[in-house]
Formats: sequence, C-alpha cells, structure tokens
Amino acid sequence: MKTARLILDKDYVISEVDKRLYGSFIEHLGRAVYTGIYEPGHPATDQSGFREDVIRLVQKMNVPIVRYPGGNFVSGFRWEDSVGPVNERPRRLDLAWKTTETNAVGLHEFAAWAKKAHTEVMYAVNLGTRGPEDARNVVEYANHRGGSYWSDLRRKNGAEEPFNIRLWCLGNEMDGPWQMGAKTAYEYGRIANEAAKMMKWTDDSIEVVACGSSSTGMKTFGDWEYTVLGECYDNVDYVSLHRYYGNPHNDTQDFLASTMDLDNFIKTVASICDAVKGAKHAKKQVNLSLDEWNVWYHSSEQDQQLHKREPWGQALPLLEDVYNFEDALLVGLMLITMLKNADRVKIGCLAQLVNVIAPIMTRPGGGAWAQTIFYPMMQASTLGRGTSLLPILTCDKHDTKHFTDVPDVDAAAVMNDDGTVTIFAVNRNLTEGVTLECDLRAFGDMRVVSHSVLHHDDMKAVNTEEHPCEVLPADVPAPRKGEDIVLPAASWNVIRLEKARD
Ligand code: AHR
Repeated sequence: MKTARLILDKDYVISEVDKRLYGSFIEHLGRAVYTGIYEPGHPATDQSGFREDVIRLVQKMNVPIVRYPGGNFVSGFRWEDSVGPVNERPRRLDLAWKTTETNAVGLHEFAAWAKKAHTEVMYAVNLGTRGPEDARNVVEYANHRGGSYWSDLRRKNGAEEPFNIRLWCLGNEMDGPWQMGAKTAYEYGRIANEAAKMMKWTDDSIEVVACGSSSTGMKTFGDWEYTVLGECYDNVDYVSLHRYYGNPHNDTQDFLASTMDLDNFIKTVASICDAVKGAKHAKKQVNLSLDEWNVWYHSSEQDQQLHKREPWGQALPLLEDVYNFEDALLVGLMLITMLKNADRVKIGCLAQLVNVIAPIMTRPGGGAWAQTIFYPMMQASTLGRGTSLLPILTCDKHDTKHFTDVPDVDAAAVMNDDGTVTIFAVNRNLTEGVTLECDLRAFGDMRVVSHSVLHHDDMKAVNTEEHPCEVLPADVPAPRKGEDIVLPAASWNVIRLEKARD
C-alpha cells in the first residue's frame, strides 16, 4: 500500500480558526426560503411557519452564520419591503431569478429563524440599484437601540431589542453583467467606500465585506480587486471570493484536483490585498470572505427549462442540485483548503443551505433530508474549531487534465481547545488505499480515539428522501498502538487523536 507522511507540531501554527469559516447562505431564490425554511401549514412547522425538521438539520450541521438575503437577489431588493405588517408588504418582480417575491419572510422573520437555528445573520445590502443611504438606514433599523426614525420603526414593528447584526456585505458580485446595477471596479469601489463609512458611522462595531470578483474566470479578475480596494481599503474588513466547481465531463480525477485552483485563487487575492496595503502604507490587513463556495452544475439545464415554462413563478425548484458521493469529496477538499488558508480566510459560506445548491433538501408537505455534502461540512464545523496547524505532507502525486503534481492525499489538522487534534484527510487516489503515517512531534505520545470514513463504491451515489442514508460517514475501528491509519481509496476521513494514557 502507498504511504503518506504527515508531520504536525504544536508550534507549526497557521492561525486560530474563525468559527465563521463554517457559515452558509440563504437567498430569496427558488425554494430556499419558501417551502425550504418556511412552509406554513406543513406538519413540522412552528407557530411562525418555520419548518422545525429543517431547523434541526441546520443545528446538526452547526452553522455559525448565514449570509442573507442574496446573492443576485439583493441587487434589486428594497429592504423596507420586508418589514412591517406582512399583509401590507408588496409583491415584487425579482429580476435576478425571474420570480415573484411576496416578502412574506423578511428581516424580522429571518432574525427570529436564525435565533432558533442557533446561528447569526450576515446581512447583504443592495449596492446595485440602491446606495449608501439605504445601506446606512438598514444598519440603523437593525442595530440602533432606539430613539431614531429607523430604530423606532423596528420597535413599532415588534422588535424592541436590536438584531445586532455584526457582519455586512457591501452588495453582491458587482462585477457581473448579470447583476442589477453592475458597476466598473472604480464605480463600485467608490460606492462601497461611502457605504462602508456611513454604515460604520451608524454602528462602529460592525464589520463589512467588499465584493471581490464573482469568479476567477472574469476578465477583470485581479484588476477588479486592486482597483476596488484602492478606493475602499481603509473602510472595509474583508474582500469576498466566490467559487463553484463542476464535473460536467465526468472526469473525477480532474474534478477532485479543483482545489489546486481554489488554493491559488485564495493566495492571489490575499496577495492583492497586501499589494494595496503596501501601496497605501497601511497598517491594517484586509482578510478574505469566501462567501459563496460549493459544487454547482447538476441543475443548470433543468433551470433553463423551468424559467421558460413558468416565468415570474413563486418558489420554483431552481438550482436544486442533487449531490453525489464525489461532490462530498470535493466539499471536503474545499474545507481542507480553507483550513490551510485560515490565516487569511476568516469567513466561508457554503452556498447555499436549503434546497438551492444545498446540503439540506425538503419536499413541500414532505420530509427533510441531508445530501452527501452535508456530512463533511457538519464534521468540519463540529470538530474543526481551534487552531489550524501547518500540515507537512509528503505523498505521491499525479497529473490530471488541468492540473499537474496533484497530491494523492490532502489534509488539514486542527488542535482543538480540549487538547485533542483532529485531522481531516481526503485520499484522492480512486483505486488504492493509502497508509497515513503521522509524526506528531511536540504533542508527544498521541493515540487515535476515532476514525470516521465517508466512502461509497459508486462515485455517483446520492441520498434521497426515500434513501437518506445511502452516503453516510461511518466509524472504523481506531488503530491501536503500532497499527496503521489507512485512508481507503476515494475517501473523506476525520481522525481524532488525544494524549495517550499510560
Ligand atoms: O448562489 C447562487 C448565485 O450564485 C448567487 O445569487 C450569486 O451571487 C452567484 O452568482
């Protein structure tokens, strides 16, 4: 069997892991909100119409923060439509997804849902069709205690206490021609700077995320980040990265190598932030918010048909990717890449959370279940908190269609606050298992307490409402002293170690 060698040391530290790395995203899109988290009349709903079966799954996945309400949707959104008496809220055409938005769920409802789901809100403001004035107004509405027009309106609308939203997105993908009110980098940089300033003058405890490029494939990628940050560096805390991968040509090896691209993307944007920092002689560091990431390609064709059949419909089943086992491996690899860059990536939002390119699926009037990608996300969010350690990994490498020198094994390690160490590892070798030799140096004598493996013989295996447990992680016997840790061919592994007792 092949061998991979992993060296970890207490003193080889990348960074503390910001718990917001394990965030997610809910957009007013498709069935994310309506018949996703909210379905009045469903047998599993609470008094407010929220599905408790979904809330339980969100809690199980341990999601610390949820970006809301968009996405492309936010660039035409009037936040005022989403507050006040529900029966007086306007129905609007959403040009982003060609659907009708009823505004039945808005800011108050979502804040209440987040509380129930044990998560926090990351709120995006509209810098597409609107501007800094509307952005600072919603900060005042959400966060100011009272005694001003907008904060008193919130109280009148039933929320005496502020929502205390700490993290705000300055628009969404403003470089994309598909975006309502798309802008050049300079136009956006200026407006983002003014919005950030006014939002922070309203509440100086908030943090804000400027839009980076919507993907590395944009012609303006790189130049966009440099120009935008040139205008707003002093007033922003993070710049966003969005990245989706697919396997449309059924080349699993190449697909699983995509995280080489993600790593490069992260390092490039971090370098651009630092170049602007240098040019400005600034002291502060702008970090990264990977606030949309996932696999996304399965549903593209069916969505085009749907839009033709039902323009301006409500709660259409859009972007409903059904994830298979290999997608779960890629999600695991993406999490590993984020952990290995935890010194710069502070926020991550798996896009999205329910029904829309999501780990959690629902059927209107029916069940809720976890897709394959739910499991690496849940395990990383639960066990990947603490300090990300620098993994020195030696293993065989291979080439794929688009990548060279792809390590067969990729791994990240987190020193948890209770002194245990958790290793997350993917064996990309599709045919052979690999023995993982761990040298834990200053940790002393450690023993494996558990080893969970996610593997399926069929790369295309999926979980469905009828068969929700087809692809599930399973504990394998922890190797005893002197025995090897084995990473099966094509597997996601979570290995926990603790100090050996005599
Ligand atoms: O997550 C789906 C969409 O992907 C978002 O609305 C947009 O920001 C991105 O292009």
